[in-house]
Amino acid sequence: MAVISRAISALVLLLLFGLSEGRELLVGGKTDAWKIPTSESESLNQWAGSSRFRIGDTLVWNYDGGKDSVLHVTKEDYVNCNTSNPIATYKDGNTKLLLDRSGPFYFISGAGGHCEKGQKLVVVVLSPRHRYTGISPAPSPVEFEGPAVAPTSSATRLQGGLMVALWVFALGLF
Ligand SMILES: *[C@@H]1O[C@H](CO)[C@@H](O)[C@H](O)[C@H]1NC(C)=O
Repeated sequence: MAVISRAISALVLLLLFGLSEGRELLVGGKTDAWKIPTSESESLNQWAGSSRFRIGDTLVWNYDGGKDSVLHVTKEDYVNCNTSNPIATYKDGNTKLLLDRSGPFYFISGAGGHCEKGQKLVVVVLSPRHRYTGISPAPSPVEFEGPAVAPTSSATRLQGGLMVALWVFALGLF
């Protein structure tokens, strides 16, 4: 009996961890979207405006690291497309950034002239209380559709949850 109740506890933990951790959101909703937009619908801020970002989510940029980069900048540098003094510079081609607080995050391209041509992004992370009030906007479809979320994320999350569950089970905490 004890073994069964432990197994059930482990399963519950697995589900809790699997569901509560942040998502990985592919910037622009598809690969290679970090580029100069050629139309309004390619605008990254249009994508950001239709998505909801929460603390714990991770942004993922997919681009050619040899030609482009992602600069995390201040609001002022975002507005002026000033690439000279970024908060952080990423150029690995598969950049991941954890959204670890609420409020706005500003990003511009580090490639010459790209920011001026619209390759820039503002992501506003909702404060935690938004989840519990009735006044937040309806969840956007992006949250529930596959393509906007990087394919590895749910598998990774499941693995993480499974590891925790197995440890708890092995240690006999329940
Ligand atoms: C860009 O930012 C740097 C330091 O933050 C500043 O010294 C420089 O004047 C700025 N350049 C422009 C064009 O605003």
